[in-house]
Amino acid sequence: MSQRQRILSGMRPTGPLHLGHLVGALKNWVDLQERYECFFMVADWHALMSDYESPQEIAQRSRQMVLDWIAAGVDPNRSVIFRQSDVREHLELYAVLSIITPLGWVERIPTYKEQLREVAGRDLATYGFLGYPILQAADILLYRAHAVPVGEDQKAHLELTREIVRRFKFLYKADIFPEPEILLTEEARLLGIDGRKMSKSYDNFIALSDDPEAVRKKAQKMFTDPKRIKMTDPGHPETCNVCHYWEVFAPQEKERIWAECRTSKRGCTQNKQELAEVLIKATEKFRAMRVQQVDVDDVLAWGAERAGREARETMRLVRKAVGLPEGIKTP
Ligand code: TRP
Repeated sequence: MSQRQRILSGMRPTGPLHLGHLVGALKNWVDLQERYECFFMVADWHALMSDYESPQEIAQRSRQMVLDWIAAGVDPNRSVIFRQSDVREHLELYAVLSIITPLGWVERIPTYKEQLREVAGRDLATYGFLGYPILQAADILLYRAHAVPVGEDQKAHLELTREIVRRFKFLYKADIFPEPEILLTEEARLLGIDGRKMSKSYDNFIALSDDPEAVRKKAQKMFTDPKRIKMTDPGHPETCNVCHYWEVFAPQEKERIWAECRTSKRGCTQNKQELAEVLIKATEKFRAMRVQQVDVDDVLAWGAERAGREARETMRLVRKAVGLPEGIKTP
């Protein structure tokens, strides 16, 4: 059995993965595989909580997401890749944790209040959506994870998870769950093509699966240095989004490109054209993965089996702690 500490993390299959995911969460996951035993989860129940009015694409997106993970370097032979809905114990533990979590703890979560306020066109004032962070806690605790890599926006959910662990321990005098450590993913600060945060809801992203023509078109639309009007004006690469992309995707070229920009040897159009080719190269393996013979079903079947084993053991301990019978085994 592995002596390494365990990590669990997840993503919701609510849209295609984009460059922001690649240089943020995904890169981090790939690196963490070196040091931890990793469980990576497709959070399809969570996707259903927000997209329940139009859930048609969740299943397909879940599979695409797994392909993108693998193309990025998440290794199904080393890490457990699984789908939340394949392991039914997530809902069982969610129910137990819901019972012991005071209503006030979830009502005051800032992301909840923010989403209710900001998400237009969808009714998120449901009983289930209030429980979103409790299901997330169940995801983590089901695997008795030691640490969870997440972005800043998920911090409140992790703090709630830690509080729930303490409450469970206090109520049942059972030490089943480690208090999971929060591994904050360094904000990659990759902005969208319009200069705002790269996000699905702003439709300003370059998807990992975009074809070369789409990448060229989007790159051409990118905002550049607002102070540079004519090509003969000297550029300010440190405030130009296109130049920042060069730094992220071709760091070895940065010095040269930035210098040419400053000295007006390189215009913004050329800069965007050449960047597009760099981005096309960086996303090549994601397009290739779509035509390769990677058997997603196989990866997910193995993942469900491995995750399920862990989940059943945790639920055996939890049932015992809260005084429920183990359950009669039906064939
Ligand atoms: N809520 C997370 C997000 O939107 C996704 C998620 C679900 C998750 N369950 C998790 C992340 C468990 C970490 C651990 O990004």
